[in-house]
Amino acid sequence: MASVLLEVEGLTRVFTQGDRRIPVLENVAFVLSPGQRLTITGRSGSGKSTLLNLLAGLDRPDAGHMVWRVAGRDWNLAELDETTRTAFRRRHLGFVFQFFNLVPTLTALENVALLAELNGLDDPFGRARWRLQRLGLADREDAFPDTLSGGEQQRVAIARALVHEPSVILADEPTGNLDRDTGDAVFAQLLEVLAEENRALVLVTHDPALAIGGDAELALGRAP
Ligand SMILES: Nc1ncnc2c1ncn2[C@@H]1O[C@H](COP(=O)(O)OP(=O)(O)O)[C@@H](O)[C@H]1O
Ligand SMILES: [Mg+2]
Repeated sequence: MASVLLEVEGLTRVFTQGDRRIPVLENVAFVLSPGQRLTITGRSGSGKSTLLNLLAGLDRPDAGHMVWRVAGRDWNLAELDETTRTAFRRRHLGFVFQFFNLVPTLTALENVALLAELNGLDDPFGRARWRLQRLGLADREDAFPDTLSGGEQQRVAIARALVHEPSVILADEPTGNLDRDTGDAVFAQLLEVLAEENRALVLVTHDPALAIGGDAELALGRAP
């Protein structure tokens, strides 16, 4: 049997608004192996971000569990306290967002090095430099985010997401703010790095083109 990176079972999340129950996720289940790509699709409001938040330990489920198998142990996020979940998230997960979310007052290099520093890894700037180089941004190290194009900003964000060598990247609409060609190029580069390093990807996307070629697809919600 293939080894397991993430096991999700019976995952349920119900929000309440006044006395109204809003069931967002009901009995979601899947397994992700190391290096695999899972694509999560579904219309706006179907619970994609809610699911990513649960997988990241930013929110807790009403039922079910999600267990990451990383660094030789099981991280059962529904049972861990917040301090441990935060430490796990910072050390073992990488994130890529639709709007890049770079720190505007830091250079590209400093943005990438930050998480390596926070994790106490040796040579954070060396790691950051290598990551930027790998994404073709060696000559943009000292640039501030507002002087970079959208595609460059997202490549810096990808370098940042990888600097601490996480087992998996969680990406929420990573090309949603880029034009078609730039988005395709950045996404191809992300996939190439992940494949070379055997890192997994959990991808939330509206874009049918990005859903092609993944190992598994999870469609949330019902057709409207
Ligand atoms: N903290 C919250 N409290 C109440 N309702 C929420 C909360 N977060 C999300 N929702 C609701 O849950 C549903 C799914 O939201 P979300 O996961 O953001 O969807 P998606 O990312 O697929 O667009 C929406 O109806 C949203 O309004
Ligand atoms: Mg969302």
